[in-house]
Amino acid sequence: MKHPLRKVVVPAAGLGTRFLPATKAVPKEMLPIVDVPAIQLIVEEAVRAGAQQVILVSGRGKSAIEDHFDHSYELEDTLQRTKKKELFEQVRRISEMARLVSVRQKEPLGLGHAVLAAKPAVGTDEWFGVLLGDDLIDSEEPAIGQLARVSMQTGKAAVALMPVPDDQTQLYGVAAGPAVGANIQVEKIVEKPARGSAPSNLAVIGRYLLPPDVFEILEKVKPGAGGEIQLTDALAVLAKQGRLIGVRFSGERHDAGDRLGYLQANIAYALKRPELRDPLRAYMRKVLQ
Ligand code: UTP
Repeated sequence: MKHPLRKVVVPAAGLGTRFLPATKAVPKEMLPIVDVPAIQLIVEEAVRAGAQQVILVSGRGKSAIEDHFDHSYELEDTLQRTKKKELFEQVRRISEMARLVSVRQKEPLGLGHAVLAAKPAVGTDEWFGVLLGDDLIDSEEPAIGQLARVSMQTGKAAVALMPVPDDQTQLYGVAAGPAVGANIQVEKIVEKPARGSAPSNLAVIGRYLLPPDVFEILEKVKPGAGGEIQLTDALAVLAKQGRLIGVRFSGERHDAGDRLGYLQANIAYALKRPELRDPLRAYMRKVLQ
């Protein structure tokens, strides 16, 4: 298999209803983690893992994302003239980070539908990664790179898995199957199982390494949970064919699509900034007294 991470798809066409009213005019993916939009952290992860082309699945009201990764001549010129070299370089670096192309999902009909919208840009003869902006994974080896490594070793598709408490499985896709070293050979995968019916406590987290024929599978998937075309239903087909590995990735994951998870992500990333760490700790000690 040639390296499966030349292209990555970043679906960002969802409505972000859990974050209203902030997301009425601002894409959820642009909400900052400290001072970096969540989607930039995602693109940085993909680039660190070797991705050369980022395919953004965009929708109505999402043009701020494209602008973020584009040159901003006015801003760059001002920063240069006012000798703000560090800021200039930071801004410049973002637009040079990766080759970004964007495709449009005309209606938010689900994650599977969003991935299918990327078919013309991915093509039908190469593997690709998918990264969701909601799931931030802070790890030394980029999480999507961990999946690519397992995929190259096994020749199978890969999905990121993380154990969650039993009373939270209904919030996730859940996968089960026999252990293969630290990972599992997925035999069963279900989207948001009803309370008490989950096949395991291993939740699907937003990183996937997929083969090109997943598009054919997605074209046949009928609307599932919530009336949406679910990526999980296409993964279930791969699992049935014995072609899906669940990867117990290493790294700290934050659910930035959830308000509490978003706040926690901000604190975790801020504590890693030398200039913020001590004042933030002092503030937290004060408010927690
Ligand atoms: P979510 O379900 O978390 O995103 O999908 P959402 O629908 O925007 O959020 P809520 O539930 O209304 O608050 C995970 C990712 O998939 C993308 C979203 O943009 C998000 O990054 N997505 C989802 C699409 O691109 N298209 C869709 O039809 C659905």
